[in-house]
Amino acid sequence: MRIAVIAGDGIGQDVTAEAVKVLTAMGEVYGEPLELEPLPWSADHYLQTGVTLPPDGYDMLRQYDAVFVGALGDPRVPDNRHARDILLGTRFELDLYVNYRPVRLLDERLCPLKGRGTADVNFVVFRENTEGVYVSIGGRFKAGTEDEVAIQEEINTWKGVNRIIRHAFAYAKAHGLTKVCMADKSNAMQQGHALWQRVYKEVAAEYPGITATHQYIDALAMFLVKDPGQYEVIVTNNLFGDIVTDIGGALQGGLGMAASGNLHPGKTSLFEPVHGSAPPLAGRNLANPMGAILSSALMLETLGRLDEARAIEDAVKAALMAGETTTDIGGTLGTREVGDAIVRRIRRPVEE
Ligand SMILES: NC(=O)c1ccc[n+]([C@@H]2O[C@H](COP(=O)([O-])OP(=O)(O)OC[C@H]3O[C@@H](n4cnc5c(N)ncnc54)[C@H](O)[C@@H]3O)[C@@H](O)[C@H]2O)c1
Repeated sequence: MRIAVIAGDGIGQDVTAEAVKVLTAMGEVYGEPLELEPLPWSADHYLQTGVTLPPDGYDMLRQYDAVFVGALGDPRVPDNRHARDILLGTRFELDLYVNYRPVRLLDERLCPLKGRGTADVNFVVFRENTEGVYVSIGGRFKAGTEDEVAIQEEINTWKGVNRIIRHAFAYAKAHGLTKVCMADKSNAMQQGHALWQRVYKEVAAEYPGITATHQYIDALAMFLVKDPGQYEVIVTNNLFGDIVTDIGGALQGGLGMAASGNLHPGKTSLFEPVHGSAPPLAGRNLANPMGAILSSALMLETLGRLDEARAIEDAVKAALMAGETTTDIGGTLGTREVGDAIVRRIRRPVEE
């Protein structure tokens, strides 16, 4: 299998190096090496060449079995143009409509909620990834004056809403889960979110074995903190999903722990940690690589290499239990040492 690796900017470089180490070790242990092909697309590359990604860049990515990304974002590119082209562009061009963000607490010591354990924080968020307010339709009139009008449209199509809701139910059924919760703001956003309501009810009717509930997004944000144990699968739109998965990241121990996939089922998909490029930490051996490494496990899971995905998760969990972690989650190790600790745990079963 061929994987495009875009380490990107800032700590994206640091954490991707560790994910690559882990994936290389997996290939050696399981005897099915991945071809990991680095692509230089980043702020550095853009500043040196003026090119964010080549004209055939999206077609190039389609030739790979999957794409792995570290993070994109650099203060030297204030309009974030390269990140928009490389990351958002790939989401749109490859039609990666499912943003798959598992929220799984691996060690109860990492949970900021009092008295909550691993059983209380174990759910999956499916965020619609190609529509909503992120399509950048709108404009500014009389910009820079006191008469300025700024319009940012939210796009909801039947096709887009239908396919993400269907994906959430299909995932629940395939994984033996019985609860799906859809979150919208249909009480206030009475046009677009009425579509979510209608489609959700129609799709839910096809899954009698699954309890389909609905919460307004503000209530869901509150319940994620108060009672996260009630959720198995959450499905929501692009903006709300972006926000609630940061709450999810916090419930797991912080952004450094959160993994994600941007999927078009059956086609080339993209995997990345939820966090950004955290410029103040970049190149200092401080970034937590676990979110990136867990994202590589999601990639293997999606590619059907389930045993390897589980082995990575187990190795991360074992490293956490042993306190082999970076300082953001209470440890004393650096980025590279955490990567080494996880690789050691992956190799150990074979060596013993
Ligand atoms: N998917 C992406 O590539 C992505 C996502 C979010 C932000 N960004 C970009 O990243 C840049 C920085 O954004 P930001 O500061 O808002 O978000 P960020 O995720 O980079 O950092 C937010 C906070 O979390 C901490 N943090 C994040 N990841 C960590 C890790 N692996 N280990 C330890 N601590 C970690 C940072 O120290 C910081 O305090 C911006 O240019 C932004 O546009 C990119």
